Amino acid sequence: MKTTHAGMKIPNGEFGVLVEDLVKALDLFKVLAQEKGELLGFLEPMKKNIVETL
Ligand code: HEM
Repeated sequence: MKTTHAGMKIPNGEFGVLVEDLVKALDLFKVLAQEKGELLGFLEPMKKNIVETL
């Protein structure tokens, strides 16, 4: 994940926007809170390998 996104200078906010859109999609399709939490909890640790700038 780090190699793939290296040099893209992805800002923290872009990651946040991705998560926001994802939550909207999950809500639209009425994904239950538990599954939603599991998915977001899986993605969160990847943030440090994707975000390079503020
Ligand atoms: C948890 C969040 C994210 C995950 C799980 C993720 C996952 C991935 C994966 C699996 C790939 C393809 C790797 C490959 O097969 O070569 C990829 C590529 C890419 N990602 Fe992400 N990504 C995330 C967030 C972001 C964000 C926030 C951005 C930009 C705002 C971004 C931009 C890109 C770009 C531009 C590519 C390359 C596409 C291409 O040239 O084929 N990613 N990402």
